Amino acid sequence: MKPKRLREHWGSRFGFILAATGSAIGLGNIWKFPYITGEHGGAAFVVVYLLCIIVIGLPVMMAELAVGRTAQRNPVGAYRVLRPGTPWFLVGVMGVLAGFVILSYYSVVAGWILAYVFKSISGAVTGFTAAAGGAEAAKAHFQGFAAHPGWSVGWHFLFLAVCAFIVYRGVKGGIEAASKILMPILLAILLVLVVWSLTLPGAAAGVKFYLVPKITTVSVGPLSFPFFKGLTGSAVLIALGHAFFSLSLGMGAMLTYGSYLKKDADLSFSTMTIALMDTVIALLAGLALLPAVFAMGLAPDGGPGLLFHTLPAVFSSMPGGVVFAVLFFVLVAIAAVTSGISILEVVTAFFMGELGWRRSRVVPVVAGIIFLIGIPSALSFGAWEGLRLFGLSFFDLMDYLSANFFLPLGGLLIALFVGWGWGPKAIAAAAEGSYHGFPTGKIWLWMCRTITPIAVAVIIIAKLAGIG
Ligand code: PHE
Repeated sequence: MKPKRLREHWGSRFGFILAATGSAIGLGNIWKFPYITGEHGGAAFVVVYLLCIIVIGLPVMMAELAVGRTAQRNPVGAYRVLRPGTPWFLVGVMGVLAGFVILSYYSVVAGWILAYVFKSISGAVTGFTAAAGGAEAAKAHFQGFAAHPGWSVGWHFLFLAVCAFIVYRGVKGGIEAASKILMPILLAILLVLVVWSLTLPGAAAGVKFYLVPKITTVSVGPLSFPFFKGLTGSAVLIALGHAFFSLSLGMGAMLTYGSYLKKDADLSFSTMTIALMDTVIALLAGLALLPAVFAMGLAPDGGPGLLFHTLPAVFSSMPGGVVFAVLFFVLVAIAAVTSGISILEVVTAFFMGELGWRRSRVVPVVAGIIFLIGIPSALSFGAWEGLRLFGLSFFDLMDYLSANFFLPLGGLLIALFVGWGWGPKAIAAAAEGSYHGFPTGKIWLWMCRTITPIAVAVIIIAKLAGIG
């Protein structure tokens, strides 16, 4: 084994929880969640998503944290020390590869967000009143911007540079310190926006769309029963994939953050807090956006463009819109940075742990590689738009594959590892994990053995078999 440098650790439990919550809360919550909810029928989708979080998200998060904390290693090294000589380390390898891919396209969207922070400050994205063309004009502006190779690649670079700067400074001095400053700001801004959105005239329709499921009657043979309207099989896969994406699961991000915990750190409380915060923020983000969209009489299913087409039009047509626009894009930028650094840290920890490189050398190298992999995604909205693989643009393909297949598969495997592969150590980890006498650890182990992997497998197989 290579000579070991002293492993870095979090400064406090609070710092760890903020950093892990920062990883979880990201573009997934603020950009993706409201629009996929809009596309997949609103409240019914929210219900399925919440089920996925409880049945699958919580056990997998605890599994990742437990494996990381026990092994005190990066995702590949962790399986190597816990189960030497077995192929389990490949789960870690898959996670690290997913890290490269996810950050490469995540950074493209995050780059647009950074640009929109500046654009909103200069008023460039709040002039789209109905008279000036509204959402259509905002869309044209965005498309022109995203199609410009210099801008999209340049902002992608800048976002990675910000993440690299923080990760370069280490776990405690970089990631934890940044999270401690940024996360409270994020929460404060979000609350301001929710209050603002809910007090707009006409907001109630948005709240209803978002929180009250529509029920329809479905008949199977002679039986008919009530069911969620608009909820399809693909919506279930998307809800599952999103649960993984949003909680930063399935690629070793939580495992890596868990590996900076002291060996005796508690896991149940942290897991529940992180998952709860992530879910509350996703719901609040929807409450900040959808009522405003309805209040302005716009459609909620604006797709990925919701943030860049619909919202600028919303901000343009209200008093004080510039201020809210700036606040909003700053909020999203913070969320993106605290997630981006966690993905970069996975890859960084891998290079440090397995190749024995120093942090100062790893960070520029991996950030550089991710920058290059991201270029085709950055060009997917302009120069390379015509390039289609399986009918999707490069960017969409990366997003679809990683969120809907690699993360769930990674999560499935880690649940199987804890449930069946890890052996007596898993039972020991479970025994520790009771929370004020409530046997969270035992329930966790049981779920990792049964419901969690089965649920993930059924959803993935159903999708591959083309059901739904
Ligand atoms: N959870 C982040 C978000 O919601 C994205 C992410 C995925 C971060 C995987 C780390 C690992 O935006």
